[in-house]
Amino acid sequence: MTITSKDIHNLEDLFVHQLQAMYYAEKEIHKAMPKMVGKTSDTSLRTAIESHMKEGDTQIARLEQVFKMLGKPPQAVGCATIDGLSKEAGDVVNNLTDKHLLDAALVAAVQGVEHYEITCYGTLIAWARQLGRQQIVDLLEKTLQEEKAMDKKLTTMAESQINRLAA
Ligand SMILES: [Fe+2]
Repeated sequence: MTITSKDIHNLEDLFVHQLQAMYYAEKEIHKAMPKMVGKTSDTSLRTAIESHMKEGDTQIARLEQVFKMLGKPPQAVGCATIDGLSKEAGDVVNNLTDKHLLDAALVAAVQGVEHYEITCYGTLIAWARQLGRQQIVDLLEKTLQEEKAMDKKLTTMAESQINRLAA
């Protein structure tokens, strides 16, 4: 959704907008991941993505908790970035037939999503800290650490085996 000055007057409004966009993003990721994970024949890659999908349930619940702390109903607003990332990921994964190339592309696609999540949660945390909402900072820090850990895990998997098999 486009940001308009009509709805956003202060940093808390901007925070809520970003929170709504992240709520949308997490839900979209939740829908897109099962389709993507079904394409890989690499068991450890599948296990890593599936366990991160379970973390995603908790991450969505944390966002709902943040809405509650702010006294707002959980509401999602469209996020063009995540739409683009999941479309791109879907195109690549659906069009590759070589299983090793597909795995390398899948890791890249999931890491693209993780990096986007890392930047958004980083912003939310910085703004929550500025707003003096330490409980929100603490809650979202847990999610940020999970996103960073997933990114690191994928880098290790790609560099230790997946990229070599694809070459
Ligand atoms: Fe994630």
